[in-house]
Amino acid sequence: MKNKLRNMLASFAAACTLWLPASATAGEETDFQQVIPRPLSVTLLPGGAFDIQSGMTVSYPKGNRAMARNAAFLTEYVQAQTGIKLTPVKGRPGKSGIRLTLGLDNPNREAYIITVDEQGIGIQGASEAGVFYGIQTLRKALPATSTETISVPYAVITDQPRFAYRGSMIDCSRHFFPVDFIKKYIDLLAMHNINTFHWHITDDQGWRFEVKKYPQLAKDGSRREQTVIGRNTGHFDGKPYEPGFYTQKECRDIVAYAAERHITVIPEIDMPGHMLAALSVRPDLGCTGGPYKVGQQWGVYDDVLCAGNPQTVEFIRDVLSELISVFPSTYIHVGGDECPKTRWKSCPRCQARARELGFTPGGRHSVEEQLQSYLIHEAEAFLNKHGRSMIGWDETLEGGLAPNATVMSWRGFEGGVEAARQRHKVIMTPTSHCYFDYYQTQNLQNEPQAIGGFLPLSKVYTLEPVPDILSEDEKGYIIGAQANLWTEYILTPEHVEYMLLPRLSAMCEVQWTQPEAKDYENFRNRLPRMKALYSRYGYNCAPHME
Ligand code: ACM
Ligand code: ZN
Repeated sequence: MKNKLRNMLASFAAACTLWLPASATAGEETDFQQVIPRPLSVTLLPGGAFDIQSGMTVSYPKGNRAMARNAAFLTEYVQAQTGIKLTPVKGRPGKSGIRLTLGLDNPNREAYIITVDEQGIGIQGASEAGVFYGIQTLRKALPATSTETISVPYAVITDQPRFAYRGSMIDCSRHFFPVDFIKKYIDLLAMHNINTFHWHITDDQGWRFEVKKYPQLAKDGSRREQTVIGRNTGHFDGKPYEPGFYTQKECRDIVAYAAERHITVIPEIDMPGHMLAALSVRPDLGCTGGPYKVGQQWGVYDDVLCAGNPQTVEFIRDVLSELISVFPSTYIHVGGDECPKTRWKSCPRCQARARELGFTPGGRHSVEEQLQSYLIHEAEAFLNKHGRSMIGWDETLEGGLAPNATVMSWRGFEGGVEAARQRHKVIMTPTSHCYFDYYQTQNLQNEPQAIGGFLPLSKVYTLEPVPDILSEDEKGYIIGAQANLWTEYILTPEHVEYMLLPRLSAMCEVQWTQPEAKDYENFRNRLPRMKALYSRYGYNCAPHME
């Protein structure tokens, strides 16, 4: 009876390509229409369903390690979600089972197609990454509950992402998160079809990247004597915070772990501001010469890298040189945000350097803005020379954009609009929609302390990264969107998960799904199933649905 009903509904849906309303008790059955992010097209076919059971094979092409890993991922997911044990097999598929193949003819390399019929389940990708996203869609359509048989309705799903850059950032300076948790976080990104992990590893309150040429940088720069209590109350906890840093070996391990999941790690060394932890070790690189202490409270510090000291550029090059030897990403993030010009204005060396470089006041950019631009240009030139591309926060527009820079627009959409008009690539991450350190509810009674603000799930969902005011050509420069998690007030992995979930599910639909297919009510109806999956994997999801 159940099958018959489903078949009837399936034929009906196929006939009118109608989206069925998601059921509130969903979770027991396979349902491609409940997947987040919503695929491009789901067509249910009449005729029945294919059953998955233990012992069934997952075949993949011989001699392709990424495809072997894909088969292993699917096997792991199905076992974790349902207890059913599949068997990966190299080469030709058996009579029936799950087949992972390449060769889908689609210029979007992350595209895939899933077909379910009496032969079994086929996932074909335009690349190994495409197959991986097909696997993500299949596992999110499957139940997250123990069972012996999963019945998968006959269907065809075709899908590809809207944006090539789908990012999520975490700040591991203000608070440190261990490698094991970073891996769990990467698994979470994979579940949301996110392909870029932006890793913020240096800031005023802690330097967390090992630089072999300057061992004290991570050793001492990762420790602060104490931390302010609450929101810069003037009261301190008196407790040293010495959680450590990431060794280059650990960073390589994270890069490899992410790469298996088709995720690129983009490291960020924030410069020339947000450098107090580095200055505490290298006081000679500050305008006043110090002494400096690793930051103990939040916000923006006046002490930044001295733009007039030739050693500053050498330091930047040394750090970037080790960074690119560890992180293979094309993009490297050099920060560039929130760099006060106070010290530079009164520093004789900075002013002398500005004169040398011919910077004069009275133009579009102040002398100090030009100094900032000079340092960022130096960083970009070094990266470009080594075959890498630079990303900077939108302040990098201020003294004139470096020639090949990509801009991360965080103080609203304007920086992104301006950069796109200058024919530079843009990643949209405005505070209004992307700052997951903000509260997600207005009822703060039982809420852990956050930085402030209010960014509910519904607001994340409404983000449209491509501003209408851009021309069609300019719109092409918006390559994606990103969620940012700053961790001044976030001390534990459980709290990280709480701030990310469920908002990351709204963000991933912004990043992946075509705008015509977005519908908040429909999304909300699909969320219970995603939450069941979070719970199956032990993630700490916030209850808010505002
Ligand atoms: C930022 O939030 N300072 C990029
Ligand atoms: Zn200076």
